[in-house]
Amino acid sequence: MSVMIRNGRIVTADENYIADIFIAQEKITAIGVGLPYQANRIVDAAGKYVIPGGVDVHTHLDMPLGNISSSDDFETGTRAAAFGGTTTIIDYATQSKGMRMRDALSVWRKKAEGKACVDYGFHMIITELPDDYLNDMDEMIDQGVTSFKLFMAYPGVLMVDDATILKAMKKAAENGGLICMHAEDGNKIEAIVKKTIAQGKTLPIYHALTRPPASEAEAVQRAIDLAKEADVPVYIVHVSSQDALQKIIEARNKKVKIFAETCPQYLFLSIDDLEKPDFEGAKYVLTPPLREKWNQDKLWGGIKNNHLQIVSTDHCPFNFHGQKDLGINDFRKIPNGGPGIENRLHLLFDGGVLKKRININQWVAIISTTPAKLFGLFPKKGTIEVDSDADLVIWDPNKTHTISSRTHHMRVDYSMYEGFKVQGFAETVLLRGEVIINRGEWSGRSGRGRFIKRNKYA
Ligand code: URP
Ligand code: ZN
Ligand code: ZN
Repeated sequence: MSVMIRNGRIVTADENYIADIFIAQEKITAIGVGLPYQANRIVDAAGKYVIPGGVDVHTHLDMPLGNISSSDDFETGTRAAAFGGTTTIIDYATQSKGMRMRDALSVWRKKAEGKACVDYGFHMIITELPDDYLNDMDEMIDQGVTSFKLFMAYPGVLMVDDATILKAMKKAAENGGLICMHAEDGNKIEAIVKKTIAQGKTLPIYHALTRPPASEAEAVQRAIDLAKEADVPVYIVHVSSQDALQKIIEARNKKVKIFAETCPQYLFLSIDDLEKPDFEGAKYVLTPPLREKWNQDKLWGGIKNNHLQIVSTDHCPFNFHGQKDLGINDFRKIPNGGPGIENRLHLLFDGGVLKKRININQWVAIISTTPAKLFGLFPKKGTIEVDSDADLVIWDPNKTHTISSRTHHMRVDYSMYEGFKVQGFAETVLLRGEVIINRGEWSGRSGRGRFIKRNKYA
């Protein structure tokens, strides 16, 4: 099967030009003006952008949490990702206590196999690391799971102490793994939560008020200090506040190897959303929490100036009815997380490129190229080059649509961006040369998504 994409404006992280793209055997095999080849299928991209498929390096599909699971599984979540122009995800597998990493990986691979509609890889969340488990990290690298997440929050569940973080970082310094840090001071937060509950404060807004920006900044600084001691790069996930960003900027100015992501929710939503009446604030209970609105401009500045290199979704959906409402009388019982896997490219094109906060090459860099580079997928993914996988999005820069749970494809009963009108549309999406979204309609196949063994951080 061969495909010719004619006359699109090819936009990568550093280029912007009109040409044809020829695809055979899942790969891009030629790029040029007026390519003289016959193809089984021709896609007319005149007047449209052609960009590399989005790479979302932070998702939680089919993620267990107590007695429930995040509401999208690998089929529904990755199909929604495709509608949003994302063709590769990296999901978080969790090594729960008493479990070896290989067993956790096999559980997560089973969740995805036969279901995923786009390509996928995994990070491994480490919840304990006795000395005799250390080699599991080498084993993961051999299996193509080349990044590890550690939590400084959620004491008693996911949180690990500084000694464990340092141990994992030292191992990563040896084997080339990338350490991803959830930076929030779990002990301090726990103390504030206890006091708040004792005062009878149980509404969703208290989720945010008990996790102040200072607790994020403190943990980011601690992660930086530990990474310096281990002499290893560190990646801070879901940066939500100016206080945390400032620590990252200071470290980067001192040439510390630190990278970081933020997420659309921190760029477009704020703590005010948690005050919505009728318990609707629960829809916005995420961790770290949404911050005061003024932080948004600071985070956009961080992206523009390359202090934040990636925007991923932290897609972790729970239904409002039947899941979020478990915490109707106690914000601690509201499952943390929100949906967004389908909305990332649209929000960032409209709110970033069209609002002139970033240019179009930077947009491609933060949604596709840099995540592919940092997480060992480049140049297979994240670019438009001969020999790269033909993961492509034909992007209509003029078409608008209104985001709504009535029309989205995520399996969740609300949208955090309900009513947002966005310009720019993932019209046609190709995964390794196969058209999986055709002019806004699903034409892919569940199970075609492939597990990607990632290289080490580069
Ligand atoms: O609230 C969130 N973000 N839930 C997902 C877990 C995490 O910390 O990324
Ligand atoms: Zn996290
Ligand atoms: Zn997450």
